[in-house]
Amino acid sequence: MDIFLDSTDLAEIRTLAETGLIDGVTTNPTLAAQQKRPFKELIQEICLLVDGPISAEVIAEDAEGMIKQGHELARLHDNVVVKIPMTLEGLKACRILSDDEIMTNVTLVFSATQALLAAKAGATFVSPFIGRIDDQGWNGMDLIRDIKHVFSNYLFDTSVLAASIRHPQHVLEAAKAGADVCTIPPKVFHQLYRHTLTDIGLKSFMDDWNKSGLTL
Ligand code: G3P
Repeated sequence: MDIFLDSTDLAEIRTLAETGLIDGVTTNPTLAAQQKRPFKELIQEICLLVDGPISAEVIAEDAEGMIKQGHELARLHDNVVVKIPMTLEGLKACRILSDDEIMTNVTLVFSATQALLAAKAGATFVSPFIGRIDDQGWNGMDLIRDIKHVFSNYLFDTSVLAASIRHPQHVLEAAKAGADVCTIPPKVFHQLYRHTLTDIGLKSFMDDWNKSGLTL
């Protein structure tokens, strides 16, 4: 499973990219608004930090506007993926941008039928929002399984990108369900590798070593 960071925080992206574990980045208008700087400049900077798909979302709500903005965003860098909302206009725009060989990510996906239409429109990625489905009292991970099932029936090559990830259990469940990508907020990424028993174990190893007088 590829790991993307769901963030516009350049310091966090830089730090975590240094691990070599980050395969791409997703952004959305809410995350972009937190940075209070020109959006295109922000996307270009992210592209310099991570060599992988970088999702940048259109703001237009009509297909014509989305296509125009999609072309502008795609021109910023070869790795830019144009993120498009899951609407009828978005599907039209997705088809045209995909035909123009621009990578697309259809976002705000909450059902397998939405994902099916996005795949038929040529989407490179579909983004089911796991946490927001859980918030409604349903099981977001069932949606990942359903979409994977539908896509495998028809050999779609659209990647399933698990989004709206809130905690490490979501990451594990997404991996078990076979999500192609999981986009993770930095806070959750840090929770993935930390463990109290690791800290206790390491401290005890170091204490014993330091008491021994040994040198490496
Ligand atoms: O990738 C989509 C994500 O940013 C939405 O997350 O936590 O706002 O539902 P959340």
